[in-house]
Amino acid sequence: MLRAEDNKFLTEAGSGTGMGELLRRFWIPVLLSEELPELDSDPKKIVVMGEELLAFRDSRGVVGVIDQYCPHRGANLWLGRNEECGIRCVYHGWKFDTDGRCVDMPTSYPDLNAKDLIRIKSYPVREWGEMIWAYMGPADQMPELPALEMALLPASHRFVTKKWQDCNWVQAVEGSIDTAHFTFAHLSFEKEENEILDIKKHFVNPLTRVATDHMRWIAEDPRPVIKINPHEAGLTVAGGRLTGSDNIYWRIAQFLMPFHSYAPSSMPGENMFGQTFVPVTDTNCWIYTYAWNPHRPLTDAEREATPTAMA
Ligand code: FES
Repeated sequence: MLRAEDNKFLTEAGSGTGMGELLRRFWIPVLLSEELPELDSDPKKIVVMGEELLAFRDSRGVVGVIDQYCPHRGANLWLGRNEECGIRCVYHGWKFDTDGRCVDMPTSYPDLNAKDLIRIKSYPVREWGEMIWAYMGPADQMPELPALEMALLPASHRFVTKKWQDCNWVQAVEGSIDTAHFTFAHLSFEKEENEILDIKKHFVNPLTRVATDHMRWIAEDPRPVIKINPHEAGLTVAGGRLTGSDNIYWRIAQFLMPFHSYAPSSMPGENMFGQTFVPVTDTNCWIYTYAWNPHRPLTDAEREATPTAMA
């Protein structure tokens, strides 16, 4: 069990906290690309690690992530107009571009160039793997985008979605790499699902709907041996289960710094599943979930079946 002070350190993600500053050294998903579907479409309010921000796609298709509140009198820019490469504040008309520059100040005399003195907080943005990523850390520490395999593939080979979770991001990460709960949470207690698929009897994988020995081994051995192997990008968590022969069935999950995980997969060629855990506040998070297959496009059925809960 964690001590209370350790838990506090891990889960506080606001600006100026230890973990909050660490997370800000990495690119962070803040929306799905499809949530800003068109040029000059409606802006979106977002909260990332306690910061209230605004995301918008401008007339060129470039996405900006800026402070949600106007630096003039604090009006909410979500009420503003997204037009001609900028968000125009609904109160006095100041307009900001995706880099946070004030590009128009219609209430001031042009010869004063007052707009050149004004900036709004803005963060660098990239689109990568169907997601919109922001970098919220120091400019001189900006890393590369994470080389998640699914983002390196053609769009046809992946499917990306997201889900809300009412717990802190660390609890969510923990659930994703904790293989021991699979025997209970996903096989024993989903009674309605079990009745439909007869999971316990036929050992059907709840994700792939395919009956396999792997599901039988998970069901029959609720005490996996856990082995953790650190590596330069994170660690692997392996859970070994008895198979009734001399062999051990190892389910191996990946944790990748600072908040990505890959679920164990069963067989070569099967679809892969991963998740990225983004703190909204200190007590809830968005989980970006993705399925991909390095060898072929996903089918429509596979896209629809992409799970919102993986372990
Ligand atoms: S409050 Fe935004 S321009 Fe005045």
